Amino acid sequence: MVQYNIVLIGFGGVNRALAQLVAERNDLWQSELGFRLNIVAVTDLNLGSVISQNGIDPRMLVETKFEKGGFARLSGGSAEADNEKVIRQAPAGIVAEATFTNPQNGEPAVSHCRWALESGKHVVTTNKGPVALAARELVALARRNNVHFEYEGAVMSGTPVIRLAKNTLSGAGLSAFQGVLNGTSNFVLGRMEAGLGFAQAVQEAQALGYAEADPTADVEGYDVRLKVVILANELLGAALKPSDVSCRGISSLTAADIQAAAKDGCRWKLIGSAARRKDGEIEASVAPRRLDLDHPLCAVNGATNAVSFTTDLLGAVTVTGPGAGRVETAYALLSDIIAIHRGSRGSLAKEAA
Ligand code: HSE
Repeated sequence: MVQYNIVLIGFGGVNRALAQLVAERNDLWQSELGFRLNIVAVTDLNLGSVISQNGIDPRMLVETKFEKGGFARLSGGSAEADNEKVIRQAPAGIVAEATFTNPQNGEPAVSHCRWALESGKHVVTTNKGPVALAARELVALARRNNVHFEYEGAVMSGTPVIRLAKNTLSGAGLSAFQGVLNGTSNFVLGRMEAGLGFAQAVQEAQALGYAEADPTADVEGYDVRLKVVILANELLGAALKPSDVSCRGISSLTAADIQAAAKDGCRWKLIGSAARRKDGEIEASVAPRRLDLDHPLCAVNGATNAVSFTTDLLGAVTVTGPGAGRVETAYALLSDIIAIHRGSRGSLAKEAA
């Protein structure tokens, strides 16, 4: 039986959903995918940390109502989240990093990834910070340590985008992409088409749990800008920083703009895009765009995301699906672990129980 020991860094919605999937699906994964997951350590800024050589019952983890510092109640637990010690010392081959995104310098997630890779552990993450701001360093570190750094969920949660474009579309001549990459802003635009004002539509998005408590990063395009940096660097070979990407959000659009577009058979979408110019430079931007109804991104509704790749051999190839959500994002971590399993059976074999 192949069993991978994993460490969960951050026990918010995403890693909690992964633990739930482990509790419910290990038997299925064993027969369908050829491996099981065994959670041997968890850390959380609020709850503390816990390490167990033999594994922690995932059902207990998700069903127990832990108070602040509550992991101290568990065998091998502590009220402190000593991330470095846990990441370096836990008897695991894979670290799942799902802490908050820091758009300034990616910390502390960059350090979490660095400690894991340095100690010979694979990293799977859904965190945009380390990928947008430190991917080059972390990929090189992973290579030197003969482990994987995987981050499918950093752009469109579990909807396959990065591996699809890198692996399945390789050779197709990908030269540009355009995407609806923020569910909150797309939802807000849809509600404005239905007649709501901007503030009212944002409030509704907050009530439904799409928008952050502070929705600035969603509606001003900063969230999309990080995703554009990730895709442009990863798929077009760029070396962009967020400040290289011009950025305008949807707060400048009025109800009148939206209604005028609808009269002409068009829709406004917040589009993150990048393209390789003739001189080889990569041009990237985030801005509201008025799209014709036959544009591949025009029909993307609600909180759904989509990205359309421009390729030489296939023309436009468009992928649409969820861009957020606990289970959807946890699935991205699973897809990263599957990629590790398929890509490095040899090196992981020593970890297999
Ligand atoms: N807040 C983002 C959105 C999801 O609304 O799409 C995380 O990137």
